[in-house]
Amino acid sequence: MKEHARSESVFIKQLIIFNRYKVCVEIGVFRGGTTKYLCEAAKETSGHVYGFDLWGTHGLNKQFQMQYSQQSVEKILVEEGHNNFTLHKVDTTTQKFKEILLSECPVIDFAFIDGCHSYPGLKNDFDTIYPLLSPTGMIAFHDTLRIDGCREFVLDLRTKYYDGSYDIIDFPWGMGNRRAGLTILSKRQFIAINLPLDERCGSPSTPADIIKREKEWMRLEIQKNVAEQVDTSSIIVDKTNLGKLKKK
Ligand SMILES: C[S@@+](CC[C@H](N)C(=O)[O-])C[C@H]1O[C@@H](n2cnc3c(N)ncnc32)[C@H](O)[C@@H]1O
Repeated sequence: MKEHARSESVFIKQLIIFNRYKVCVEIGVFRGGTTKYLCEAAKETSGHVYGFDLWGTHGLNKQFQMQYSQQSVEKILVEEGHNNFTLHKVDTTTQKFKEILLSECPVIDFAFIDGCHSYPGLKNDFDTIYPLLSPTGMIAFHDTLRIDGCREFVLDLRTKYYDGSYDIIDFPWGMGNRRAGLTILSKRQFIAINLPLDERCGSPSTPADIIKREKEWMRLEIQKNVAEQVDTSSIIVDKTNLGKLKKK
């Protein structure tokens, strides 16, 4: 089978469109390879893309050089007809990054985290993004199959950082035969959306009981996983509680 050269970007684009996400963030823009797909998706949802990169030597051991710049990427995106993006040259480990997020995109629908691939780098980006993630939001992590820091961090999202409010699913493809791997963290959207069931095709429980059991299950998931107990009667309305990570 012939794989699209940017298969993970195409996949991400469709996820954004399907979920009607508007506020999309990319950490690690590099030359804008995925950014253009994010812009295409955001065009369909009337959304906006916020891209962040330090566009300089990077990596825990400063082992990666940079040949692109904010200006060169902006030029490419504009030449391709995109106008629904804002790029920032910033190190995501700094306070400045947090301040930009809070002022420009305090609630994030979708984030593609593809910046520093070391464990501490990825954890920093996650810790900054996750509290701002909408209760129906999603985070995509790149390179989670083949790179140590990314793979271990995803393991820890399932274990020591798990707060009971999200699902994680791995897709072991992308980047041709290398199979870089893409992992999606998805907030448990059905419960957060709270839409009534509107068709009955036959089920062991009544619609009201299904919703009740679902909420009870979610309540227990959060209760047993979040050290700081939440007021479980408000898990749907009190979105701030869902953003808290379990303490280590
Ligand atoms: C793998 S590349 C991103 C590829 C891009 N997302 C794509 O799909 O084509 C990683 C990028 O993360 C950026 N980066 C690494 N550490 C960073 C940090 N602390 N702050 C901001 N950007 C960082 C690097 O400059 C590099 O451009």
